Amino acid sequence: MFGEMKVFSGGSHPQLAADIAAHIGMPLGKIKITRFSNENIKVKVEENVREADVFVIQTSCSPVSDYLLELLILIDALKFASAARITAVLPYFPYARSDKKDEARISITARLVADLLETAGADRVLAMTLHAPQILGFFRKPADQLFATPILAEYFKRTDLGNSVVVATDAGAAKFAGHFAKRLKTPMAIIDKRRFDDSEQAQSVALIGDVDGKDAIIYDDEIATGGSIKEAANILRKFGARTIRVGVTHPVFSGPAVDRLREAELDELVVTDSIPIPKAKAQALPTLVVLSTAGMLGDAILRIHGGRSISEMMD
Ligand code: R5P
Repeated sequence: MFGEMKVFSGGSHPQLAADIAAHIGMPLGKIKITRFSNENIKVKVEENVREADVFVIQTSCSPVSDYLLELLILIDALKFASAARITAVLPYFPYARSDKKDEARISITARLVADLLETAGADRVLAMTLHAPQILGFFRKPADQLFATPILAEYFKRTDLGNSVVVATDAGAAKFAGHFAKRLKTPMAIIDKRRFDDSEQAQSVALIGDVDGKDAIIYDDEIATGGSIKEAANILRKFGARTIRVGVTHPVFSGPAVDRLREAELDELVVTDSIPIPKAKAQALPTLVVLSTAGMLGDAILRIHGGRSISEMMD
């Protein structure tokens, strides 16, 4: 067993960190993060962490690379302050979409992020709904993944799902959309989505399954530019869907996302708080619902500290 549990947070998502700490029932550890005029970052741990079991919460959001570096510096400071074990808690994993070599001579940055976390001093990682399961294998240290699917499913179960169909935005999302459909006890459909280049504009070319007259629930791991959701909504309307709702874990909402999501005219857009949503963006999306992940992340932290199973949480 490790020593006393302590939870620290970087600057990316203060609200989620505060909610996790409140769920656990302990205050966040004291740190001071200074940004100098030359853009250098300094972290000072302002309390004793010797032999402590330390958890560091930092999600990936804008400015992505800056918050990643802040996390690495924070872990380094904790390591050199003699923490016994450091777990990086990453509600949204940085550079998760850079996860495979699907073109010649490209970077696989999610693997580099894993290396950097280990080099900085992380002993374990706790992530949520990774873009691809192979990212867990990039670590040579223990890495756990939580899925927000149960949180999303509980929300949708509050409504009548008798006429519903879960829709995967592409073949890649089909496996996890299938788990989601199983939880909701609905059939599923799959959109044949293609990306023809790096322009961040996906095209939906066909639909496998029946959505005619049905209430569609589009399932995906994240919304980045909103292109996939807008395309999916278009094709679902074309094939006769009656209503269109969306259940997605990570609201990245980058670039033209808000405009595209408005144009998609969704009946409901349900996401989690794994990433903070700027107020102006949230206000521009009238059907947006944000579900809390603090309970799930807080429970997972307590389980890791107590040496208990994480996979049990997903049953
Ligand atoms: C793609 O493989 C992912 O599962 C999401 O569909 C994608 O990240 C969404 O991106 P965008 O919102 O830019 O279409």
